[in-house]
This record gives sequence, structure tokens and C-alpha cells, in this order.
Amino acid sequence: MAGVSVRDVRKAYGTTAVIHGVNVEIADGEFVVLVGPSGCGKSTLLRMIAGLEEISGGEISIGNRVVNHLPPKERDVAMVFQNYALYPHMTVRDNMAFSLTLRKADKSEIEKRVKRAAEILNLEKYLDRYPKQLSGGQRQRVAMGRAIVRDPQVFLFDEPLSNLDAKLRVAMRTEIKALHQRLKTTTVYVTHDQIEAMTMADRIVVMHDGIVEQIGTPLELYDSPANLFVAGFIGSPAMNFLKAKANGGAVELPGGMKVQAPKGAGSDLKVGIRPEHLTLATGGEGLPATVKVIEPTGAETLVLFEIDGQDTTAVFSERHAFRPGEQIKLTPKPGMFHVFDAASGRRL
Ligand SMILES: Nc1ncnc2c1ncn2[C@@H]1O[C@H](COP(=O)(O)OP(=O)(O)OP(=O)(O)O)[C@@H](O)[C@H]1O
Ligand SMILES: [Mg+2]
Repeated sequence: MAGVSVRDVRKAYGTTAVIHGVNVEIADGEFVVLVGPSGCGKSTLLRMIAGLEEISGGEISIGNRVVNHLPPKERDVAMVFQNYALYPHMTVRDNMAFSLTLRKADKSEIEKRVKRAAEILNLEKYLDRYPKQLSGGQRQRVAMGRAIVRDPQVFLFDEPLSNLDAKLRVAMRTEIKALHQRLKTTTVYVTHDQIEAMTMADRIVVMHDGIVEQIGTPLELYDSPANLFVAGFIGSPAMNFLKAKANGGAVELPGGMKVQAPKGAGSDLKVGIRPEHLTLATGGEGLPATVKVIEPTGAETLVLFEIDGQDTTAVFSERHAFRPGEQIKLTPKPGMFHVFDAASGRRL
């Protein structure tokens, strides 16, 4: 096994720069998720690690070996793509064995590795079937099986679950996580889905327009987002942002409610409050809110409010008898708010 080190890596297609100097240190055995909106450069970065895409600057090492100029097959990585591209005319067994057969590996060794991968993935019963005789989830497992038989230093996944329906996606993400806990192979996993990132990752790399916005564990990103972008991207439903003014040592929220100002607060601020951290105010002070839409899910209720002309979402686990148009007051749970500089977007 091996760690992966990405140092000041850049990519340009012609004169268009798409990756602007990315640094990520991935430890041996770590499960790192690259997440960010469409077009931010996740696949490009992953393909550069795989060697499928040349880098325009910087350095990539896998296990202390600089791989900048090594072709993919010499990097000892295995990649699983979104469209798993199984060979339709080959059985599951032959699909899984394919890369080893190409390399003219020993027959008994191939058999042993395919058997082990099939056991790990619960595919033993399907080894003689063809891809068209499998469900989406089973095909996905065959694609992972192809990667596992190679016993690589690093697994690279590019949105491997996005072709599956919602329920299967949730089941497969648990399977992949359990698989990683068992094999402990260093993994870089690309997704645009922040829930997938949160639930699977040891550490998350949040990307945006070809740069890294923040790297941290899922709960570090949730608890202490470095800027407005990460704050708005991580968490579902998304964090609410209210316009606020610094006034002496206090931050003044809509409706005159005051919270303590962090050090270095300029005058124009944004206060971020997660939907799950808003509660009904009991005293006189609070954010004046008008009820707009109520969405019960059973376990909890999402309520859309208007505060200071802005849509604001709250999630309640207790039940309230709200009615559309009703005026109430909300308050963040003690300490559960984030103050950002409105101009730079940085957390204060
Ligand atoms: N061959 C290419 N030539 C020119 N531009 C490219 C090429 N491949 C990708 N790009 C651009 O590079 C940027 C990053 O693309 P990339 O595929 O890495 O995004 P992504 O984060 O994986 O997005 P998605 O979530 O949609 O898969 C995009 O703006 C894309 O248009
Ligand atoms: Mg992509």
C-alpha cells in the first residue's frame, strides 16, 4: 500500500487553466473523497493521479515515487468509473480476470484472486453469468471486483454509484465503506454528492473552480467550514445565511437580535445558521420569521420561513402546529452559528 501526494498540481487545456495548483497529502490506507460542483475539476485531478491525463505543472507521487511521467499501468492504481464498461461478451469471471490475463499472470494465481474478490463482493453465485444477466448493483460490484483482483496500491473511484437508483446507492456506499475497512487500500473517491462524501470519507477535499476550498474530516467541515462556499456546500438542507452588521462587540442580526462578534469582524457580515440549529425563541428576542411552507417527513419537519426578506429553512425534530403566514420568532441554539466576512467570504 502507499500514500498519494499531490503537490501544486496544475492542468491547462491549451490556454484554459482548469486546475490551479492543488495540494493534497493522502496517507497510506486513507479514504479521501474529492467533492465539489460539476466542472470543478474532480475527474481531471483523479485522472491525473491515474496517469490518464498529463499534468501541466507540479508533482504527483504514489508511495514516495514520483509518477509524473509514468504510464497508468506502471502506477499500480486501479480505477472504477461511473459507467463500469464491463465486457458484454465475457462472463463475470472473465471480466474480473481480464487485466491479469492480459498481463499473462499465472492461471492458478488468477483463479485464486478472482475467487477471493468474488467472496469479498458476494459474487460467487454469478461468476458464470454475463453482465446483461445482472442487476445494476451486481454489475457495479463486478467493476469493483476487476479493481480488487489487481490488488493495487491505490483505488481510484470516479462517481461509481451515480448510475444506480437512490436506494441502491445508499446500500452500495455502505458496501464500499465496509470493503475499505476490510482491505484498507488507499482510496481516492470522486463524487458531487456531499452526503456520499460525508458518510464515506476519512477526509474530504472540497473543490471549486479548480482550487481546493478546504480539506478536513467530515465533521470538521460541518462544524468549522472555512468559508461561505464550504458552509453552503456541506450539509443538507443547506446552511442559511443572514445579512448582519458588526456593532461594537456585537453582531446585529435581523430584528435587532445580538450575538457576540468574533475577533476581526469587519462591518458587513453574513451569519450562517444550519436549519437543524434553529429553534423557536421562548423569550422576547429572536429573528422575526414568517412561516411559508411546511414539509413533514415523519421523523422531522422542514419549515421554510421568510426572515428579513430571505428564505430560511429550519428543521424541527419536535412537532409544531405552524400555519402558513404565521409570524413567530426563531433563535439559533447557543453558540450554533457561524460568522463570515461578507466581502471575502472567510470565516471569522
Ligand atoms: N479535454 C478537455 N478539454 C478542455 N476542457 C476540458 C477537457 N476536459 C475537461 N475540461 C474542463 O475542465 C473542467 C473540469 O472538468 P472535470 O471533468 O474535471 O470536472 P468534474 O469536477 O469532474 O465535473 P462533473 O461533476 O461534471 O463530472 C471543466 O470546466 C471542463 O469543461
Ligand atoms: Mg467528473
